[in-house]
Amino acid sequence: MALADFSVKDKVVVVTGSSQGIGRALAIGFAKEGAKVVINSRKIEKLQPIEEEIKSFGGDVLSVQADMRKVDEVVNMMQKTKQHFGRIDLLINNAGGSFGHTLDELSPNGFDAVVRNNLNQVFYCCSAVRPIFEEQGGGKIINISSVAGIYASPGLGAYGAAKAGVINLTKTLSKEWAKYNILVNCIAPGLIITEGAEEVLVPTQEKKQKVIDETPAGRLGVPEDILNACLYLGTEAASFVTGETITISGGRTH
Ligand SMILES: NC(=O)c1ccc[n+]([C@@H]2O[C@H](COP(=O)([O-])OP(=O)(O)OC[C@H]3O[C@@H](n4cnc5c(N)ncnc54)[C@H](OP(=O)(O)O)[C@@H]3O)[C@@H](O)[C@H]2O)c1
Repeated sequence: MALADFSVKDKVVVVTGSSQGIGRALAIGFAKEGAKVVINSRKIEKLQPIEEEIKSFGGDVLSVQADMRKVDEVVNMMQKTKQHFGRIDLLINNAGGSFGHTLDELSPNGFDAVVRNNLNQVFYCCSAVRPIFEEQGGGKIINISSVAGIYASPGLGAYGAAKAGVINLTKTLSKEWAKYNILVNCIAPGLIITEGAEEVLVPTQEKKQKVIDETPAGRLGVPEDILNACLYLGTEAASFVTGETITISGGRTH
């Protein structure tokens, strides 16, 4: 295995939900390694500083405002990417998020909203990129799930169910779409300090310390921990890896 196989240089990478947190780190990290990146969010003004940051080190970037819950906007984003960069090599389905509610408090509408923004939209994005991958002879997908999709998640029940769906969808897609030379893998992060997670999961220093104490690695996760695994899965070095879910939690969840 040559070190060159670990390169993502010139690959075209779409990162959904990249205006902050893990998605932002993925977009900037891939761009620093020479990939051409598409950044996305529902709010264009949140993408502008990231576009500027990527351009400041000579990176190639396209910003697309689109809501991943809306099929027409998803399809449009993939088409815009194809028009601008000529192809797509890797789709990272990162957009998502939740709010804390136990299941006895959660309304049917609330359940639908969380599942739609964490599971349905992953399928919409995969479906929209598939014809492009088929036409160009293959491609890669990385879905961002969560350890909440593996273990019981009191207070995050709808989110956990949706993220479990993402893991299963990954496995089925990896089998059904192998004929198109599409590799589909999944990352299940534990607690990673981001704008979204901090507010919902560890709003106080006391709560942060409790998580650190429970984590064998002795620290909180940072977005770059997820970037490193995505960089590997996005390269030729991972060409025999598909249908897998990599848990990244510093050993906290076993
Ligand atoms: N951080 C953690 O501890 C952790 C753990 C496990 C899994 N995860 C997963 O990792 C991913 C990123 O998490 P994070 O902590 O970085 O989240 P975050 O800080 O809340 O950021 C979420 C990103 O997704 C975008 N987004 C949300 N819904 C969208 C939609 N419908 N269409 C387009 N963009 C959308 C948001 O942008 P706009 O609001 O501007 O649209 C934002 O850029 C999520 O899927 C999350 O479930 C996170």
